[in-house]
Amino acid sequence: MCGIFGYIGVKNAADVLVGGLKRLEYRGYDSCGVTVASREKLGTRRVSGRVETLEKDIVKHPLKGQVGIAHTRWATHGVPSEENAHPHTDCRNELVLVHNGIVENYLEIKERMLAKGHRFKSDTDTEVIAHLIEERIKEKIGEKAPPFLEPVFFEAFRKSVNEIAGSFSLCVMWSRCPSMLLSAKMHSPLIVGLGKEENFVASDVSAFLKFTKKAVFMDDGEIASVKKDSVDYFDFKGKKITKKNSVIQWDSSMSEKGGYSHFMLKEIHEQSEAVENTIRGRLLPLEKNNLDREIGLKADVVKGIDRIQIIACGTAYHAGMVARYVFENFGLPTSCDLASEFSDRAKIIDKSTLVVAISQSGETADTLYAVGEAKQAQAKILAITNTVGSSLARKADFTLHTHCGPEIGVASTKAFLGQLAAIYALGLHFAITRGKLLYPDAKEYIGELLKIPRLIDEILEEKDSIKKIANDYSSSEHFLFIARHINYPIALEGALKIKEISYVHAEGYAAGEMKHGPIAIISEGMPVIAIATNGRAMKLVAGNIEEARARGAEIISLVDGETEKLVKAGRKILVPRTIELLSPILNTIPLQLFAFYVALNKGCDIDKPRNLAKSVTVR
Ligand code: M6R
Repeated sequence: MCGIFGYIGVKNAADVLVGGLKRLEYRGYDSCGVTVASREKLGTRRVSGRVETLEKDIVKHPLKGQVGIAHTRWATHGVPSEENAHPHTDCRNELVLVHNGIVENYLEIKERMLAKGHRFKSDTDTEVIAHLIEERIKEKIGEKAPPFLEPVFFEAFRKSVNEIAGSFSLCVMWSRCPSMLLSAKMHSPLIVGLGKEENFVASDVSAFLKFTKKAVFMDDGEIASVKKDSVDYFDFKGKKITKKNSVIQWDSSMSEKGGYSHFMLKEIHEQSEAVENTIRGRLLPLEKNNLDREIGLKADVVKGIDRIQIIACGTAYHAGMVARYVFENFGLPTSCDLASEFSDRAKIIDKSTLVVAISQSGETADTLYAVGEAKQAQAKILAITNTVGSSLARKADFTLHTHCGPEIGVASTKAFLGQLAAIYALGLHFAITRGKLLYPDAKEYIGELLKIPRLIDEILEEKDSIKKIANDYSSSEHFLFIARHINYPIALEGALKIKEISYVHAEGYAAGEMKHGPIAIISEGMPVIAIATNGRAMKLVAGNIEEARARGAEIISLVDGETEKLVKAGRKILVPRTIELLSPILNTIPLQLFAFYVALNKGCDIDKPRNLAKSVTVR
């Protein structure tokens, strides 16, 4: 997730672009940059850090011109640094581009471009696109420019976007053709802003809302050719298309949250994208051994592992608990420990243990310390993190990035789902490499996983019914969450979400443990939230629900089409059906929404709950 912005008009482009970048900073803020064209000369400023730093730099070294492109970055490939900041250029610094998304086939394109003599200046996946377009231009015109460059530029761009696999919204400028910006979209947002004697392209309308409310929402597989007085639209085959104009109703402060009242709610709604982005390109085709290529986790390392040790904190620990079930399902003995409690366990690991450290921020002190101890025991470290260039990523031997984009709300939501998605991809990779999962079965699991983003959106469409239940229970002083097996960590996560944003007492229990003590706390009217979706122990969970109900509990159950009839009473939340192994992903979402609406009803500061910090850098 990054923010891109392009401007062409009559104003000073640098001012417009920097102002827009500030509004896009919520999409990433580890580095940023801007390029402005004046006649056929390009001026670029890039910094590691926030837009504020870029702005100061431009005040000292002004950029003059009325057309330009800009970017604020959330690193996915290559650490946050000035070299990796966008805009990126071709070999001659004539063509500049900004990109939001992930180029899945960048290694393959890079190899081809290197063989043709291109020189790369960054570690990003994005830079390959600049060289690809340069190459296509060269093929057309050689060293000598024909009089009409616009068709050449357009064709080179069009051919190039057809060669890229993955997700992208792009904005490209060519110094030899500075009266036109080219933009394209595939799986990443792109909106054209239509002004008077000026036009814009951006990842989000917030970038240009100050200047115009007239916008065109681009669809996947479309190109916009943007000039000062006109915009033309094409499909990827080059056929001209017509697009509908919209008038934006938001004000600019709302649009930073994409129209949502809270970052947490926005991030809950970004979860299908987070899961899709995290699994994309990592599972299929099976024969390609994608994770091996991407993170260097070679087959001999995977085959040499005796056991896995997971370490993490908070919500990431709950993802780790799910991972234990996933990895053991594929025959790999796994333990999962809280990073802050790991010390004593470090004694039992050695070089045949693969330590999997999970952390959204990659900066959690407890996790980093535990990783240090594991390294001393000579274990190999695999990090699952959302933050490229984080301390964890730098310490680890292998890093599997989740591609969730920046998570601003303190309560982790989309990062958790991204972690689960990464865990399933990893589990399948282990199982296939170790010969525990053969082709047809592997394909079936992958098929089910690929359906998950759509099912997430189905749950979100029903959020009003969850809101209603949450409103009815928002004055409760205690909540109990129960589940079994792979959904037990989800019961813990449901309780954690309520605790941290509503400041209400909530506990998660293994449903079978209730009778060993906790059932004593149930009193008349106490809400018990039970995860009762399809699974081996469903009948036992139904029994536990009855035990709680018999003692006065009010039951709220998560059920799917098949288990609905097994739960006799109470309020029910219908969750789409999937296989038991993947059910934690879907079951999490109603619990996040439930916690959100309870907190909303109580008037709590949801995005910045008291006493908490997004990243806990003390032990
Ligand atoms: O950045 P990390 O994933 O390492 O953070 C770990 C926990 O601090 C974090 O998950 C915390 O529990 C969240 N606030 C939960 O919503």
